[in-house]
Amino acid sequence: MANLKRFGVSLEEELLSKFDLHIKNQNYPTRSKAIADLIRKELVKSEWIKGKTVVAAITLVYDHHKKDLISKIIDIQHDNHGLIVSSQHIHLDHNNCFEIIIVKGSPKNIKTLADKLKSAKGVKHSSLTAATTGKSI
Ligand code: NI
Repeated sequence: MANLKRFGVSLEEELLSKFDLHIKNQNYPTRSKAIADLIRKELVKSEWIKGKTVVAAITLVYDHHKKDLISKIIDIQHDNHGLIVSSQHIHLDHNNCFEIIIVKGSPKNIKTLADKLKSAKGVKHSSLTAATTGKSI
């Protein structure tokens, strides 16, 4: 474990009460853990803004019966093979597919790829979860 350092924080009582309730609802064991997560979240946001190499997960839910759509999704991924680390396809039920695509690269390229996939006709749901390589946080 990294060296721990203590520091004092002054907050308005009302803000602290709201924060304590919020972290209790999220099952944080301590304020320290919750504050560390907030700081890391900001650092990850900063990595994305600065355009550093980041990692992310793109998820898609789409109609299995739309063969043109499946072909398009595969074509888009092949065109961006340099960004894609891994992908997994799950047959949710008779009609629906779920795909998770792990990507690594510049935030701009990842966002462009996610937008292309999301806008393919027949995609029912899509998400882009920003993460970090962990090197700078
Ligand atoms: Ni499927």
